[in-house]
Amino acid sequence: MLKEVIATRFITPLREGGSLPGLVEADDLGTYVLKFRGAGQGRKTLVAEVVCGELARRLGFRVPRLVGVEVDPVLGLGEPEQQVQELLRGSGGSNLGMDFLSGALGFDPLAFSVSPEEAGRIVWFDALVNNVDRSWRNPNLLMWRGELWLIDHGATMIWHHNWRGAEASAARAYDASDHALVSFGPDVAGAAAELAPRVTEDLLAEVMAEVPDAWLADEPGFDSPDELRRAYVRPLLARSAVIHERIEGLR
Ligand SMILES: Nc1ncnc2c1ncn2[C@@H]1O[C@H](COP(=O)(O)OP(=O)(O)OP(=O)(O)O)[C@@H](O)[C@H]1O
Ligand SMILES: [Mg+2]
Repeated sequence: MLKEVIATRFITPLREGGSLPGLVEADDLGTYVLKFRGAGQGRKTLVAEVVCGELARRLGFRVPRLVGVEVDPVLGLGEPEQQVQELLRGSGGSNLGMDFLSGALGFDPLAFSVSPEEAGRIVWFDALVNNVDRSWRNPNLLMWRGELWLIDHGATMIWHHNWRGAEASAARAYDASDHALVSFGPDVAGAAAELAPRVTEDLLAEVMAEVPDAWLADEPGFDSPDELRRAYVRPLLARSAVIHERIEGLR
């Protein structure tokens, strides 16, 4: 399970994100980007962040460390902005935190260059998890200390919004035509040869064990968080073997 910290101070809302993430300080003296469980996108966004972030990390990608952040709604009382107050009030309990990469720059495909190998690994990974949120308009990649970091995996695994159609949904192709890295000649075949064999049932079970029970409880059609964890493993395992042949829109 993710390490848990307790938020001690709400610093400021981050202006950029659609879900209004905030910056908080925690009892371990860390500074975290906080993604609220009570945000409009719902708790599945947080599950997706953990599943994809922890899988990417284990495949060798740079992903800011993830933690569970315990929020006391009282933190919102002094907040001048009503929207922030409401988010804090509606997010008591466990939320998602991510190490804040201070001074990171948003990735700009026109200003930075990425090798075909690295671009291929990222495009392959995004195809695996069906990430629709890494376009050139909104790359969700940060440059920090001269290296590329992956953030924001909330809009992935569309199949977890409808488990009954999950198998058919996970069999679909991935459209990479708008991907932030498509212009760098991504070597997805090379990436698949390297990474696909590493996506095993054991690895995915290890990743799923990081997701807090509270975010998996009471899913219709599932008796327990562990049963739901197993449902997340199947589409990813099936997809890892074949997805490199189903990436459309590469140039
Ligand atoms: N760990 C981090 N370190 C530094 N800055 C970050 C970090 N995480 C997010 N940010 C900044 O905050 C912005 C919003 O974060 P993120 O993309 O995760 O939120 P979001 O609400 O899901 O956004 P959207 O859906 O609009 O893409 C990022 O584009 C980036 O500028
Ligand atoms: Mg984003």
